[in-house]
Amino acid sequence: MAYHIRQYGLQQGALEIQYIEEFFGEFPRRKTSVEVVSRLGSRDHQIVMAEAALTSDPETVVPVAFKVSHELRPFETDKKLADLVSRLSGCVQFKNRRILYSWIGGTRRDWRGRGFFRALTEQQEAWALDHGFDEVVVKTKNRFYDMRATLDQLEFNVIKLEPNLDNSSASKVYLSKRLGREVVERHRSTRELIKIG
Ligand SMILES: CC(C)(COP(=O)(O)OP(=O)(O)OC[C@H]1O[C@@H](n2cnc3c(N)ncnc32)[C@H](O)[C@@H]1OP(=O)(O)O)[C@@H](O)C(=O)NCCC(=O)NCCS
Repeated sequence: MAYHIRQYGLQQGALEIQYIEEFFGEFPRRKTSVEVVSRLGSRDHQIVMAEAALTSDPETVVPVAFKVSHELRPFETDKKLADLVSRLSGCVQFKNRRILYSWIGGTRRDWRGRGFFRALTEQQEAWALDHGFDEVVVKTKNRFYDMRATLDQLEFNVIKLEPNLDNSSASKVYLSKRLGREVVERHRSTRELIKIG
């Protein structure tokens, strides 16, 4: 099966992200299109979504999974990103290397376990390599067990743990994957890509 992936330009992509985030009721802090534009506007970025037919109505195709990533520079002025860079210091080498931060992503509950996130991740990695990125970095928490298991399967390595002494399930976990031609050669998914905007 070929996964159908759409890669969006910033304005339409931000609206699509705001829309799909509404389906992730388990996470209280959902991103708005304004936040997405503000974060991505001044940096290299990628917005990808996978779409699939509704089981109840195969004629209707809907977005089922998404992934948003952006460049992370060694000297960030945005407060949150500057904080992230400082937390990654000593774990990620920024000098003369391009780092891609995998910011947000997920698969709608009814479509989980069917390879959509792997397909998006592989598309992200192929794009990143083509755009000269050396490494993909991602942040999660201990309690996001599905995400941790998925990142494990996708061969991300833990590079840092920030323990939360009161509640270890809230400890932050940083992971990364170094890119190279061999990574792309190991990809398993067949994908059809449509670029929009
Ligand atoms: C994590 C998540 C994105 C996985 O999406 P998905 O589309 O179901 O993932 P895929 O089907 O592409 O699976 C990719 C790989 O991870 C594995 N995997 C996925 N979910 C898993 C789970 N719960 N336990 C173990 N392995 C899992 C799959 O077996 C697959 O491995 P394989 O390709 O080697 O066979 C999805 O569960 C999700 O959106 N969860 C909520 C998001 C979240 O936790 N956000 C927290 C903020 S970081």
